[in-house]
Amino acid sequence: MKFFADTAEVKDIKDLATTGLLDGVTTNPTLIAKSGRDFKEVVKEICGLVEGPVSAEVASTDLESMLVEGRKLAKLAKNVCVKVPLTWDGLKACKALRDEGTPVNVTLCFNPNQALLAAKAGATFISPFLGRLDDIGLDGMELIREIRQIYDNYGFKTEILAASIRSVNHVKEAALAGADVMTAPPSVIRDLVKHPLTDRGLAAFVADWAKTGQKI
Ligand code: E4P
Repeated sequence: MKFFADTAEVKDIKDLATTGLLDGVTTNPTLIAKSGRDFKEVVKEICGLVEGPVSAEVASTDLESMLVEGRKLAKLAKNVCVKVPLTWDGLKACKALRDEGTPVNVTLCFNPNQALLAAKAGATFISPFLGRLDDIGLDGMELIREIRQIYDNYGFKTEILAASIRSVNHVKEAALAGADVMTAPPSVIRDLVKHPLTDRGLAAFVADWAKTGQKI
């Protein structure tokens, strides 16, 4: 499973990149607004920090403007992946940008039929939003399982990018459901390493080593 960081915070991306665990980054207009940075500037900087795809989302919602924005974003760096919304015009933008050789992440997916459309439009990634479905009392993980089955039934190459991940349990469940990629806030990625028995075991080893009086 590939790990993407869902953030526009450069400090976090640098920290995660040094672990070797980071395969890419996703941003969205909300995360850009939160960063307080210039959109194109921050995307360029992030693209220089990771080798994998960096999703940068178009701001417009009509086809022509999405294409203009998508083409501008694609020129920022070779690893930009243009993010478009799962709308009729978004699907047309996806098809056109893919025909031009630009990777596309189709975002805001909330049902399997939407995911089927995105795959048929040639999406590089489909982003089902698990947490937001859970927020309204639905089962976000079931959506991942259904998309997995549909894509496997027909051999679609579109990668399932589990998004709106809120917890370490979401990461585990998405991996079990066969998501190709997960994108999570840096805090969730860091939490994956934690286990109380690891902490307790390490404290005991440190204490016992001190008793030996030795140095390595
Ligand atoms: C994914 O690309 C989105 O940016 C993100 O995962 C949305 O997460 P949220 O529902 O926690 O805002």
